[in-house]
Amino acid sequence: MTFDQWTRQVLDRVESALDHYLPAADVQPAPLHDAMRYAVLGGGKRVRPLLCHAAGELTRATPEALDAAACALEMIHVYSLVHDDMPCMDDDDMRRGKPTVHVKYDEPTALLVGDALQSQAFITLTSDVLDAPRQASLVRELALASGSIGMAGGQAIDLASVGHSLTREQLETMHRLKTGALLRASVRMGAVAGDTPSAETLAALDKYAAAVGLAFQVVDDILDVTADSATLGKTAGKDAKDGKPTYVSIIGLDASRALAQQLRADAHAALEPFGARAQRLAELADLVVNRVS
Ligand code: IPE
Ligand code: IPE
Ligand code: MG
Ligand code: MG
Ligand code: MG
Repeated sequence: MTFDQWTRQVLDRVESALDHYLPAADVQPAPLHDAMRYAVLGGGKRVRPLLCHAAGELTRATPEALDAAACALEMIHVYSLVHDDMPCMDDDDMRRGKPTVHVKYDEPTALLVGDALQSQAFITLTSDVLDAPRQASLVRELALASGSIGMAGGQAIDLASVGHSLTREQLETMHRLKTGALLRASVRMGAVAGDTPSAETLAALDKYAAAVGLAFQVVDDILDVTADSATLGKTAGKDAKDGKPTYVSIIGLDASRALAQQLRADAHAALEPFGARAQRLAELADLVVNRVS
């Protein structure tokens, strides 16, 4: 199977699974469920679900278990995007090529869509396609990655940093939390959904995920400067306008591009112990670094 065929197959599975794990649009309160489905379905690159499925192949996780983990990850990710776009945070009006949730609906709805997606992620992880020990491990991984020492903590540093100059170390910490933590969890959760991974396997996957997770936000910072809004599906040029510290503002565009390539090489090196079994993870590292949107 080619990488494109594999990707298409996972994306199709994940789209149906998201439809299944989200409450139907006619379940009360219907306006909230409609807005949750608007935010999640039919858009986004689904990088976290792809990483989760690719890592799960290494530990022979069942596709159904991986779908549940992948959907939970995507729900947390979308919750973070819906809140990130609100006027009290980045104040963006476009996401995934559509009006943001607070623009299409209203601010209270956007707040509640995020809240409810966070809960829905944990409801999804505790579905019976996973046995109780795996449910507990996955819940802990996802909670750690999305809370104050993960995504939410990174977002707090991001907001507190507007207009300040960060050191490169501080910038790296912020990126590792706000974006890296959930990407790392995507890889770990895929592995944990299958046969219990050895400490060596988890350590190698962690190294891979740390490189890919940081690379992802470095490339996001680059694309904010180099791509246009139509390609990105979100407003380009927003970081500089808002005075956000980014890799581009702190080390410049050329050094940021070089760093992304270095991290891609680091990700490949971390996968060496797995040989050909880690082909999809290797291809995903390339996708993350070479993407254009
Ligand atoms: C955007 O994430 C926000 C960051 C964490 C950088 P993605 O680039 O994965 O957004 P979608 O899911 O494809 O819309
Ligand atoms: C967002 O970072 C990270 C999270 C949503 C957790 P950005 O603010 O850079 O993401 P975009 O550029 O709006 O997608
Ligand atoms: Mg932001
Ligand atoms: Mg933003
Ligand atoms: Mg950005």
